[in-house]
Amino acid sequence: MEGASTGIASVELHGRAFVGFISANELEQAIGRVAKELQVKYADKRPLFLGVLNGAYFFAAKLLERLDLECELTFVKVASYHGTSSSGSVTQLIGLNEKIEGRHVVVLEDIVDTGGTIAHVMDSLSDRHVASVSVATLLFKPEAYKQQFPIEHVAVRVPDRFVVGSGLDYDGLGRNLPGIFILNEPTHEPV
Ligand code: IMP
Ligand code: MG
Repeated sequence: MEGASTGIASVELHGRAFVGFISANELEQAIGRVAKELQVKYADKRPLFLGVLNGAYFFAAKLLERLDLECELTFVKVASYHGTSSSGSVTQLIGLNEKIEGRHVVVLEDIVDTGGTIAHVMDSLSDRHVASVSVATLLFKPEAYKQQFPIEHVAVRVPDRFVVGSGLDYDGLGRNLPGIFILNEPTHEPV
């Protein structure tokens, strides 16, 4: 089992069992591949990386230490609230103080699941006149994805199951686990 190479085969969080799924080593190698893609694509473009908190802190740190590239990093939070617009809810990117007009922006995510979060981020950037925008994510659930926007840079594709570790949490717990652990229950529902 993959978990064996992380040194921890399984772990319990809030009373539910998660088993080792992707080792920390495999994850590092996959992040290295994404770094190489970005290195080529953004050479001389001085990209601005936009990490989506909380989960993306791990991916951002690991990815950027692999990049031999002039670049900047900032973090945002996505906040949704019900406004008075006809669409019903309004989304804001909190913490984006940089001037992003004309910049090549790379949004960093811990995981892209249905794509709702990334759609909100894209929405908030749409009137900011950026030079380009793309997405890089640690994990991607292609079976769950419902948006049109292409997720160009993916470290690891995972099945439509709930996972934790390396920045991803289950109700606040598990972010600090090395590698990725998967919920050991036959459910596709988020927990
Ligand atoms: P999306 O908006 O459906 O793409 O999902 C976005 C957010 O849901 C992610 O940024 C995570 O915070 C959370 N999420 C989705 N799937 C998982 C998972 O398997 N484990 C932990 N968090 C998840
Ligand atoms: Mg979360």
